[in-house]
Amino acid sequence: KPIVLSGCQPSGELTIGNYLGALRQWVNMQDSHECYYMLVDQHAITVRPKPEDLRKATLDGLALYLACGVDPEQSTIFIQSHVPEHAQLSWVLNCYTQMGELNRMTQYKDKSQKSEANMNSGLFTYPVLMAADILLYGADKVPVGDDQKQHLELARDIATRFNNLYGDVFTIPDPYIPEFGARIMSLQEPTKKMSKSDNNPANFIGLLEEPKKIAKKIKRAMTDSDEQARIYFDVAEKPGVSNLLSLLSCTTGQSVESLVPGYEDKMYGHLKGDVADAVVALLEPIQEKFHQYRQDQAFLNQVMSQGAEKASARASKILTSVYDAVGFIAKP
Ligand code: TYM
Repeated sequence: KPIVLSGCQPSGELTIGNYLGALRQWVNMQDSHECYYMLVDQHAITVRPKPEDLRKATLDGLALYLACGVDPEQSTIFIQSHVPEHAQLSWVLNCYTQMGELNRMTQYKDKSQKSEANMNSGLFTYPVLMAADILLYGADKVPVGDDQKQHLELARDIATRFNNLYGDVFTIPDPYIPEFGARIMSLQEPTKKMSKSDNNPANFIGLLEEPKKIAKKIKRAMTDSDEQARIYFDVAEKPGVSNLLSLLSCTTGQSVESLVPGYEDKMYGHLKGDVADAVVALLEPIQEKFHQYRQDQAFLNQVMSQGAEKASARASKILTSVYDAVGFIAKP
């Protein structure tokens, strides 16, 4: 079976964007692929979260993976820091990555503009750790949202450079980006990606939010103020309405084209009501399962320890071949 690897940062509550752009694909790929899904807590410390917040977000994330249908019997689920090979390979890959390549990463550029106060080198080398995550398992496919495309390209470039020097050590990974839902936009600023670390909570829908709150946020979502409040799909002219239509399409499984005619004489309020109902209907069963898993610490522990062991077993083999390739002497 082809190998799949992906992860989310426990840097806040996972959003409907994370679900539609990534997690939903993860679940669907489990039957046909050998899957590795992790919570990247080492990536999350680049913004120096409060330790208790990171702990909570990691356990919440784990319970959410399970609640969304990631199955520990089928897939390997683990916490990045439990598998030391990630940090180990990351160091090696740092030495095969050019400063210029990292300088071009748009996510780093955005972050460095936003938080000049904390420009640590971890933020800069973040994509190298991500490349290590992927290459360590020989992943063939990496299911992610649109925003991770550039990081994936860098991982491919690093792997190709390394292979050119030392032979076929790494598998070159392909991004797997869904046709719909790969870029869910912010509710208040629909030209910007929805993000779990947004300072304004009105911009995102958390997977664990109360249904009433979700409905309220959607009803207050920014729509487009052209003369006639018509409902149609046009990302450039009507980013807010188009985002709502995408959300409705992704949550109901109906295409945007088939939805639009139904709103011909309707108002924005109708569309928002329908989006709210569809999102809540999708999230309610997930939330119910989340609470069951989150209370069962013994089960979460078992998933984490079994996952770390399985992940490490695979990762250590590739790390050994990397160490050998660069000329490290094996421990006698
Ligand atoms: P993160 O935690 O920001 O997001 C997790 C996944 O959700 C996708 N996503 C979205 N999809 C659609 N619409 C949105 N608004 C939206 N926001 C986020 C992301 O594309 C991602 O797939 N660097 C990664 C984590 C990572 C990783 C990896 C991913 C670390 N190592 C190795 C894959 C493989 C990140 O910050 O994702």
